[in-house]
Amino acid sequence: MRPHVLASCATSLDGFLDDASDERLILSGPADLDRVDEERARADAILVGAGTVRADDPRLLVRSADRRAERVARGLPASPLRVVLTTRPVDPGARVLAGDAETVVLAGSPGEVLDELGRRGVVTLMVEGGAGVLRDFLTAGVVDELQLVHAPRLVGDGPRFTGGGPDGHLVETRTLDDDVLLRYRFGDPDDRHLAEACTLAGRCPPSATAFSVGCVVVAADGTVLGSGWSRRDDPLDHAEEGVLRRIGDDPRLRSATLYSSLEPCGRRGSRPHPCAELIVRAGIPRVVYAWSEPPEFVDAPSGAGQLAAAGIDTVQHARWEPLARRCALRAREQFEGL
Ligand SMILES: NC(=O)c1ccc[n+]([C@@H]2O[C@H](COP(=O)([O-])OP(=O)(O)OC[C@H]3O[C@@H](n4cnc5c(N)ncnc54)[C@H](OP(=O)(O)O)[C@@H]3O)[C@@H](O)[C@H]2O)c1
Ligand SMILES: [Zn+2]
Repeated sequence: MRPHVLASCATSLDGFLDDASDERLILSGPADLDRVDEERARADAILVGAGTVRADDPRLLVRSADRRAERVARGLPASPLRVVLTTRPVDPGARVLAGDAETVVLAGSPGEVLDELGRRGVVTLMVEGGAGVLRDFLTAGVVDELQLVHAPRLVGDGPRFTGGGPDGHLVETRTLDDDVLLRYRFGDPDDRHLAEACTLAGRCPPSATAFSVGCVVVAADGTVLGSGWSRRDDPLDHAEEGVLRRIGDDPRLRSATLYSSLEPCGRRGSRPHPCAELIVRAGIPRVVYAWSEPPEFVDAPSGAGQLAAAGIDTVQHARWEPLARRCALRAREQFEGL
């Protein structure tokens, strides 16, 4: 299975990824660099092209000691696998070959590279550049999420990623001091919204006893009515429950699709109404989820079975199951590692 591909880069106001000088240019500020470090810590692998290795000589390690320790406590290496794309030998003195993370050198089309990384068990890949690699991955249509940061700099000239490719859909904007993060998703609606639900699961507060789940509810015309994650507003909240409560009684629910990283629950101990019942009551006609609730948690008719019995079009989208599983368990592992 191919990994989820997150492409990440910073550009100047005039659209450049670097200036034209030989000096390394760091475009965004400390808050954004810390955010990038957090994304790195979540990834299984980080990929760059040889041009970036030659120009910037990056280490591609997780910088924060806390994040490194957290990964180690979860049984992972302190930093993700580093992947360099090149058709030539990498300079043996390059920093990407040093430090306490493994490095693999690959060549091939973006699709072939992703297939190879999938075979190696990579579920989440972060593509950090440079211009040529970003262009190739975007043009090939294999990028699931693009995190583009606009830094308030005018550099005048330098590399940029040009080339065609599918249109993106904006899912989030965030300001980080003087920088702005724009988060885009690519792909057909089911892929985009379900992958986003799985990613949102990564924002759940840690819990030793509950899964981390993300949920997105989308109207028939594509408008996102609400999105959220487990325990966002209340420590007992399931993701679907919290999102439906925030949306309230909206007539557009009657033709909406609910996306959830985990199969909606069919029975609960902590609350009187399981999510399947809340979805039926809201009148939502379609549910798409990535991962079936593991059997040890199910001692009643499954949530999906209840939804189907109520006439709801219920689909499991197996493409995102590894991502859902990864995000669902992350918070539990974090907690156990503390
Ligand atoms: N602002 C940002 O966020 C950011 C991030 C990263 C980099 N950058 C900037 O981007 C610039 C570098 O960009 P770039 O376009 O020169 O280089 P690049 O995209 O990093 O690397 C391109 C090189 O990667 C290799 N490559 C790419 N695809 C390959 C494939 N499928 N199979 C095998 N090899 C492949 C080729 O190297 P070989 O010729 O060795 O085969 C190619 O010349 C630098 O100025 C850097 O500062 C900016
Ligand atoms: Zn539930």
